[in-house]
Amino acid sequence: MACKRGALIVLEGVDRAGKTTQCKKLFEALQRSGKPAEMMRFPDRTTTIGKLISAYLENKSDLEDHTVHLLFSANRWEMVPLMKKKLEQGTTLVVDRYAFSGVAFTSAKPGFCLDWCKSPDVGLPQPDLVMFLQLSPSEAALRGQFGEERYEKSDFQRAVQNKFQQLMKDRSVHWQVIDASQSVEDVHKDIMTHSLNAINCAQNQALAELWK
Ligand code: TMP
Repeated sequence: MACKRGALIVLEGVDRAGKTTQCKKLFEALQRSGKPAEMMRFPDRTTTIGKLISAYLENKSDLEDHTVHLLFSANRWEMVPLMKKKLEQGTTLVVDRYAFSGVAFTSAKPGFCLDWCKSPDVGLPQPDLVMFLQLSPSEAALRGQFGEERYEKSDFQRAVQNKFQQLMKDRSVHWQVIDASQSVEDVHKDIMTHSLNAINCAQNQALAELWK
């Protein structure tokens, strides 16, 4: 008998593109339509590893660049048993950032190549859909200043955006670019349409492994 698993849906995008708002709206809309769903975010700052990452992002501690990359990855791997369990139970997971942020942010630093950055995340649960909320740097600037965290600087964010563009060339991942310059409601409608399709398709498919 075909297994009716939940879908793994990821939102990625540049800062201020509205990822967190849209994750919440999607989660609430799925719940209202009677589809079991839960929200997750990476980094998950509540775990022991997550607390190390959080202190680093808040500039309260310094970590060597390879080390922090591996911590971000470990922070995903520690959630994998729970993610698999939920997906197998038929719960759709709406995830705010995933391995793609991991690769885009570290590979934007000097001396890191995409392949090295991908390797610790190879084999993670493969998302059924990755929506990239696209917003030009000028539109993003209109939405206000960056916060105080480590990576919230315009030049670095531009380098990160370039790395995301490189990652999106990979056809083994189901990317969907979303125009994040639309109104919050119109972005939500697009996201909902793509998500419902992904949920339908995932129902009868086994969960695959990322970048394998
Ligand atoms: P957020 O909690 O506001 O989404 O911010 C997390 C920051 O960490 C953001 O700048 C992106 C960055 N990041 C990485 O560098 N590597 C990762 O693997 C993830 C998930 C996020």
